[in-house]
Amino acid sequence: MQNSIFFDTLKGTKTSRPPVWFMRQAGRVLPSYLELRSRHSFWHMMSDPVLAAKVSLLPVYELGVDAAILFSDILVIPYAMGMGLDFTDHGPKFDKPLKDYEYPLTKLNPDPDKLKYIYRAIDEIVKTRPENTPLIGFAGAPLTVLCYMLEGLSSRSGFPDAISFIYRNKGVTEKLIESVTDLTIEYACQQIAHGIDTFQLFETHGGILPFDFYKSLVFPAIKKISKAVRDKGVPFIFFPKDIGTGFRHITPDICDFVSVDWQTPIIEARRLVHQEVGLQGNLDPRLLFADQAAIEKELLKYMEFGKTEYKWIFNLGHGFMPGSSFENAKYIVDWVKTTNWRR
Ligand code: CP3
Repeated sequence: MQNSIFFDTLKGTKTSRPPVWFMRQAGRVLPSYLELRSRHSFWHMMSDPVLAAKVSLLPVYELGVDAAILFSDILVIPYAMGMGLDFTDHGPKFDKPLKDYEYPLTKLNPDPDKLKYIYRAIDEIVKTRPENTPLIGFAGAPLTVLCYMLEGLSSRSGFPDAISFIYRNKGVTEKLIESVTDLTIEYACQQIAHGIDTFQLFETHGGILPFDFYKSLVFPAIKKISKAVRDKGVPFIFFPKDIGTGFRHITPDICDFVSVDWQTPIIEARRLVHQEVGLQGNLDPRLLFADQAAIEKELLKYMEFGKTEYKWIFNLGHGFMPGSSFENAKYIVDWVKTTNWRR
């Protein structure tokens, strides 16, 4: 893709400023999204290709971000494996969580055809997007997806049943991770065939296990997904949230760029992560609840870093919070785009 500051940065080309996009940029802050959402269910919005494409592109037009991300969800993978799923007002909920079964593998029936509606949304985005707007495809990383599958609902309390299952059934857990990984690879390759420009893998709950355990259990799967994506010439971004000093183990065989959570100072992440791996992040999304003077103060802290660090994509340290201010999101994009980064 030519004339994309986002794509140039991913390829290691020096640009005049960092590119900017936000995790959850489509489905949370835009008044136009909230208006559409008041008339349609989330399932409907992501499964109707025209609506999904429209929503994916809204942040490009309304916030001025440098890339679009596909409007979908990480839980489409368990759904395509045969798990009944509902998005309720309290978050996602599976009909029958895997923790309730003695032999959960026999309950899964991966069907790649159940992901086809998403490829139609990608086709529509590619057809309708403004010129030089990169499209980010994505999936959940295996541990995060498995936590939801085992526990059955989104949990703010750290997936206690999923974790006890993992400790009680390590062999079965490994097989479940393998099964999620196989379908995720097929899904990522199809997203690429339909025209995504970059792929991000969300390991939102990467911090729920001790890092050494996480590394031995999940890194082989991450490497497999990463290789499948990069073998097709598509850059691979990994978001391992809450891994702390585990950033030391983020090497070029894992990803091209790593997305840094808000807990880890970006300068510290730069010291820990392998020099060849670029960084993305990591403004605290809760800062959007503050006033613009407080936001600017935080943004200014990135100036020294961004002056010399070309392999850096400006983003949040996690997705936008519900109820975040659109004006503040726009203020941040404008600030990143108009600041003289003295490069
Ligand atoms: O900008 C975007 O919204 C892009 C599309 C996107 C969604 N989910 C849409 C969505 C992306 C990239 C995701 C990723 C996702 N989904 C993650 C990883 C990133 C992260 O934020 O941690 C996770 C853990 C999920 C699982 C999930 N889906 C949860 C916990 C919820 C509950 C509510 C919420 O908003 O977090 C969802 C539902 C969901 N996914 C909504 C949207 C817009 C809200 C649905 C609604 O309006 O009811």
